[in-house]
Amino acid sequence: MTCQDTFDIRWARPVDAAEIARLFLMSSDGLAAYIWSRHAREGEPVEAVGAARYARTGTAFSYENCLLATRGDEVLGMIHAFEMPEPDSEAASPDRVLAPYAELEDPGSLYISGLAVHAPFREHGIGGTLLDYVEALALTRALPRLSLICFEQNVPARDFYLRRGFAVADRRPIVPHPCLHYTKGDALLMVRPLMDAADTPEIRLPETAVQHAG
Ligand SMILES: CC(C)(COP(=O)(O)OP(=O)(O)OC[C@H]1O[C@@H](n2cnc3c(N)ncnc32)[C@H](O)[C@@H]1OP(=O)(O)O)[C@@H](O)C(=O)NCCC(=O)NCCS
Repeated sequence: MTCQDTFDIRWARPVDAAEIARLFLMSSDGLAAYIWSRHAREGEPVEAVGAARYARTGTAFSYENCLLATRGDEVLGMIHAFEMPEPDSEAASPDRVLAPYAELEDPGSLYISGLAVHAPFREHGIGGTLLDYVEALALTRALPRLSLICFEQNVPARDFYLRRGFAVADRRPIVPHPCLHYTKGDALLMVRPLMDAADTPEIRLPETAVQHAG
């Protein structure tokens, strides 16, 4: 039996929102903690803000856009992705800390907003498999590219993406903040054009989250 036989991929459900928030705290290198802390009421943990955020529906930052790697009832990892919209000229300017990430958007791509695998389960092919599923999702939706933002100093993740066909398309210096794990270096926009469906390993996407809910 290969290791890939020991986990499943399924769409997230509302009950997974807290686990998604925990994995986002891991994947975002402090950025989610920064954003959620600005929305937290006094004494409210950032994890609770994140969980409430991912329990919503009909918005990009919803459990509906999240695929989970699971073994039985245990969540091993997640990937969260949505189609990056065109910039909204009416939207308020982001604050100084968030400005670099707003400038690194790739409209029209399937944007991977979070990818994380719990430490004990890394290097067993789960992260790569989650990426394969998101590639299949992009092809299903006829989107031409995958995109993501990675900190230059997160060398293991950056190299993981480079080895999987992503290239650095743009970069911005980070604006340091105590929440962020890195105090220097750039945030990288990494982009991967998609192959034809005919060249892609066949992946059967799980049923949608909406069909699972109920
Ligand atoms: C980046 C991350 C998601 C990768 O997840 P992962 O499950 O370890 O990914 P994989 O197992 O598919 O691949 C990792 C390496 O393990 C290797 N590997 C896969 N299966 C293996 C196995 N059975 N035995 C040994 N090695 C294996 C892969 O070949 C890969 O090496 P390579 O990049 O040189 O090819 C994970 O390290 C992580 O969660 N990091 C913290 C959060 C983070 O930084 N997220 C990205 C933010 S931009």
